[in-house]
Amino acid sequence: MSQVILITGASSGLGKAAADFLSSQGHIVYGTSRKPSGEKLPWKPISMDVTNQQSVESAVNEVIAKEGHIDVLLNNAGMGIGGALENFSGPEVQKQFDTNFFGMARMVSAVLPSMRARKSGKIINISSIGGLMGLPFQGQYSAAKFAVEGYSEALSMELKPFNIKVVVVNPGDFKTGFTSSRIFTEIDSNGGNYDVNFKKAVAIMEKDEQGGSNPVILARTIAKIIRSKNPNFRYIVGRFDQRLIARLKPFLPNALVAWILRDHYKVS
Ligand SMILES: NC(=O)c1ccc[n+]([C@@H]2O[C@H](COP(=O)([O-])OP(=O)(O)OC[C@H]3O[C@@H](n4cnc5c(N)ncnc54)[C@H](OP(=O)(O)O)[C@@H]3O)[C@@H](O)[C@H]2O)c1
Repeated sequence: MSQVILITGASSGLGKAAADFLSSQGHIVYGTSRKPSGEKLPWKPISMDVTNQQSVESAVNEVIAKEGHIDVLLNNAGMGIGGALENFSGPEVQKQFDTNFFGMARMVSAVLPSMRARKSGKIINISSIGGLMGLPFQGQYSAAKFAVEGYSEALSMELKPFNIKVVVVNPGDFKTGFTSSRIFTEIDSNGGNYDVNFKKAVAIMEKDEQGGSNPVILARTIAKIIRSKNPNFRYIVGRFDQRLIARLKPFLPNALVAWILRDHYKVS
């Protein structure tokens, strides 16, 4: 059955692949970005900045005014700031959380009154495998995604009486615009005190992302979640080794997980 779906961050990468795929399946899809390109798309673009409360409310109101309701919110908009945790300034931390965590929470609060009134809806929050384990030199990104995890767990319980399903998706590495949109702390950009490890880790994360999976794979998982009457709370999607460590982490000693990650990112 055709659903009304609102996707944040639909101008690129995972959000765009999901918008294209879901609209090809006959859903009514609205996709946001800060500056829609004006190109002809099979879904409806909306201008919205998740860091701006007014912009969030007006985008959600626009969809509800046109369609009467929203069946699915896909919270996907996000970006990364790389750097050593010591080197993050207050505004840099704020910027990371404002998009990846507070932006998602703003969207949820904006759609909930209408979903609660209808006692129906799905909220799908894009986290990351980095939301299940702290990644070196992506520490604030991981912290913001860990926040998405705790928030989503609590939200799923609060919304149970309203028949609103909450789902978290943890992608591994996917080839998207994420790598080129990543920014770095001012200190690390200018050769900070973590220079060698920082450079090695960044080179590896960029290589992993650009050699990553095709975003269509994630779009298919989103379509499956939308079709399902009773979706799981969590879907981990991506390369086998990344899915494996994410699944095994709770059962492994912390020191072993840290060794695996330090070895992977060449942090010595
Ligand atoms: N690619 C990966 O390997 C990977 C892995 C794990 C998790 N993820 C997560 O997947 C999500 C999508 O990332 P992606 O890889 O598809 O990256 P991407 O290609 O860079 O796309 C990011 C999208 O987010 C939007 N966005 C960024 N800041 C925004 C803001 N303030 N307000 C509204 N929209 C904003 C961008 O739109 P505009 O710039 O046009 O506004 C763009 O459409 C993110 O949450 C990311 O953390 C990605």
